[in-house]
Amino acid sequence: MTLKEKLLEKLEQSEDYLSGEALAEAFGVSRAAIWKGIKALENEGHEIIALQKKGYLLKTYGEKLDSDKILSFYQGKAPLRLEVHEALGSTNDYLKTLAEKGEHEWLAVLAERQTSGKGRLGRSFYSPKGTGIYLSVLLRPKLELKEASLLTILGATVVAKTIEAMLDKEVEIKWVNDIFIEKRKVSGILSEASLSLESKALDYVILGMGINVVKGKGLPSDLDNTFGALFEGEAPQAFRNEFVGTLLTELSSAYERVAQKDYLDYYREKSMVIGKEVYLVTPHQKEKVYVKAIDDFGALIIKDEKGNERLINSGEVSLRFE
Ligand code: BTN
Repeated sequence: MTLKEKLLEKLEQSEDYLSGEALAEAFGVSRAAIWKGIKALENEGHEIIALQKKGYLLKTYGEKLDSDKILSFYQGKAPLRLEVHEALGSTNDYLKTLAEKGEHEWLAVLAERQTSGKGRLGRSFYSPKGTGIYLSVLLRPKLELKEASLLTILGATVVAKTIEAMLDKEVEIKWVNDIFIEKRKVSGILSEASLSLESKALDYVILGMGINVVKGKGLPSDLDNTFGALFEGEAPQAFRNEFVGTLLTELSSAYERVAQKDYLDYYREKSMVIGKEVYLVTPHQKEKVYVKAIDDFGALIIKDEKGNERLINSGEVSLRFE
């Protein structure tokens, strides 16, 4: 562990201010080294309150994530189990290891922060402490491989519905998995599927959801204009626990009907791309197309500039408006 990481761990465990002197002594380094470590953490997006006579305190937003509190809001029928971690590399990766060892479905894993949060298409997902919800759920749906994208659609639907239920805000969904409020992305979903070679069906799916609850100060500047959050200022104290409980309740009831596909109606209704001209972007090209519809497997039905109608799967493609 680097000094910066050790410092963060110590600050996370402390509910009171820690003096620079005490920290320097604990790690056997100079106070200047501690100050440098604190600045490096601030540059990564951690908010640290520094008071001259008292020292350093890591700022947290509202109450901590708590399994019992989340379960008190959970009303689903699915046999939910929860794990809450202070920090993980990626909740998806962590859960994948458990899935490979045979873990049953409906284990949900949360982390206060992720050190290497993952986004779609190999991107990283900025996951600082306290400002967001980083949640992964292990599911073992009885679906064929070609239906795997439906889980992403289901996830986006559930996140959007939960936001609408808890906040009086209009939500839009950008195919395939991005949730927007007032043209800013507030949530992204990464579902990762594993195929059973024997049955050629899905073995498991990890449904990973990242939600920006408040806008932390250290958002990388290239993301600052694109990303939004559920709240402009601070969130209500118990918001995250209630949100997660409500979201998992929504997920439990939507998942019962995963094969019926009725959630596709809501998804289409909230789509910000159907009936629009967009750019399909891959690492090699950018193509202007018109989006006609979304089919029953979650694929995009588009018309290209030559007038040909084509089907686009989410795999390697992202959508842009300009
Ligand atoms: C995207 O916007 O491209 C998808 C972002 C998905 C982020 C979530 S946070 C919880 C889970 N763990 C990860 O490493 N990623 C997903």
